[in-house]
Amino acid sequence: MRRLLVVGNWKLNGTLSSTKELLTGVLGGMSEVTAADVGVCPPYPYLLPAAELLQGSAVALGAQDVCDQDVGAFTGEVSAPMLVDVGCSLVIVGHSERRSIYGESDEFTAKKFAAAQRSGLTPILCVGETLDEREQGVTETVVARQLDAVVALAGMDALATAVIAYEPVWAIGTGKTASPEQAQDVHAFIRQRLAASNEAVASKVQILYGGSVKPGNAAELFAKPDIDGGLIGGASLKAEDFLGICSAVK
Ligand code: PGA
Repeated sequence: MRRLLVVGNWKLNGTLSSTKELLTGVLGGMSEVTAADVGVCPPYPYLLPAAELLQGSAVALGAQDVCDQDVGAFTGEVSAPMLVDVGCSLVIVGHSERRSIYGESDEFTAKKFAAAQRSGLTPILCVGETLDEREQGVTETVVARQLDAVVALAGMDALATAVIAYEPVWAIGTGKTASPEQAQDVHAFIRQRLAASNEAVASKVQILYGGSVKPGNAAELFAKPDIDGGLIGGASLKAEDFLGICSAVK
């Protein structure tokens, strides 16, 4: 049985004091969360204070991005060893906002994925199609291409120690959630594609859904056989909503 995992992606939001407040709120409600593992991904400057607050708790700490290089002359970058050093165990790679706003390619995302694993971080690899791509009927082609780039660089076995997040771009921050059936279809496709090369990895890897998950729709999504939790943007910024999602399945 795969355990549920719910991860908050805070994106470019908050202040030092709101970070502490939000984490205190989340920690305060964790006793109600029994069926899911939980993680949060605050902005880089708040990782260290977050790590201090989360120490000894059941909430894992993650970053929203990582450099593909470990050390050197890469102005503005943050490396995987640095993330480990400040207490992270997770990192999001290939979020659609990185891909579309900052032009990060499938190959570059794969390098970040490999960098994360080199340092022992668990990468949360985001894949997903745009509205245009869905309407053209190429959702599976796009998701397969995004997955294949990572498998080509890191190998299939690397997915055994990674998490995948299916995030249809048209559902992110739009309030339009993919229906549980639409999401399940793509999740099943991802799992089947992995199973074609390695059954054990395919049955083990957690595939999260992301895109306008809220306390009101989480239970239905997480009940689908191939949906193993969620990557939560907007609703992770309010402790009550985030906790509602984390405890959506008992
Ligand atoms: P959303 O974002 O929950 O605000 O739609 C999800 C994500 O981008 O990870």
